[in-house]
Amino acid sequence: MKCRRCGEVAQVALPSHHTGFCPSCFLDFFRGQVERAIRRHWMFGKNERVLVAVSGGKDSLALLHVLRELGYDVEGVHIDLGIAGSSELVRAWVEGFCRERGYVVHVVETARDGLAIPDVKRSVRRPICSVCGKIKRHWFNRFAYEHGFAALATGHNLDDEAARLFANTLRWDTAYLGDQGPALPAEGKFVRKVKPLCRLTEFETAAYCFFQGIRHWHEPCPYSGGASFTGHKRLLGDLEDTSPGARMAFYELFLRNARPVFEAAAKRETSELTPCAVCGYPSSGEVCGVCRVRRMVADGNAA
Ligand code: AMP
Ligand code: FES
Ligand code: ZN
Repeated sequence: MKCRRCGEVAQVALPSHHTGFCPSCFLDFFRGQVERAIRRHWMFGKNERVLVAVSGGKDSLALLHVLRELGYDVEGVHIDLGIAGSSELVRAWVEGFCRERGYVVHVVETARDGLAIPDVKRSVRRPICSVCGKIKRHWFNRFAYEHGFAALATGHNLDDEAARLFANTLRWDTAYLGDQGPALPAEGKFVRKVKPLCRLTEFETAAYCFFQGIRHWHEPCPYSGGASFTGHKRLLGDLEDTSPGARMAFYELFLRNARPVFEAAAKRETSELTPCAVCGYPSSGEVCGVCRVRRMVADGNAA
């Protein structure tokens, strides 16, 4: 196969786009897709400060790198979850990557906020991953808000977004369907949330890292044991194999045709948020979920 743009030998086949690229044209394609997502969804401009949540995995390292390549004003934030034998290694990897490439990265240690994940795991009965996700999102937002960033960007890619949409659709979860998308506007103490890799698949992000020499962290979290929505991703992957482009169409057409309807319904149904009595960030109750967990951990430690 020949590269669609320059006629050289293609090294990356992209059936969903009915095309293939040589490495250099693939990198242009990748950057173009990121720019398109940013512009189409009004994510941020060149004069705005953007905070990238960097886990150390391929998506978030690729995101930090590509936004810098495109000339955006970005810094990273890494959440150190305090899991002995794991968190310190991932953190060192992220810090090393950023030092090597001259990127600023901030680190938030949840243990300093009384929320080391092993302590949280001992104190709550719910699955640790969902509580941990809540704590991470709280700190992404809080750090971005307190340090004056215009937007918080995460490395979610098209596979993640389509699989989440599929899961929400199977449950017809109207609240989540109204809220799901690549850009959520700022509101009060919630900063704007964006997903600039939403037009790129896991394969494309991995190929970008490979061609850019980005070595990423491979080990899954010792508590979760792997990526979320694995089964849904496999099903959508099978669909994509037989109908190239179906995954992108599922997601893009949802955003265009269905999301506005769910969004309007969700606005009517959701209760007003008020400032949490402890941390001051938006909460549906008097005390937010994260502050309630912190209290449970403190009670557990005292017992
Ligand atoms: P995941 O839910 O693990 O697939 O992660 C989705 C996105 O959340 C990643 O691409 C990162 O942008 C962000 N993220 C996850 N874990 C962390 C972390 N410990 N520190 C900073 N960002 C993270
Ligand atoms: Fe949060 Fe594993 S429990 S990343
Ligand atoms: Zn709170």
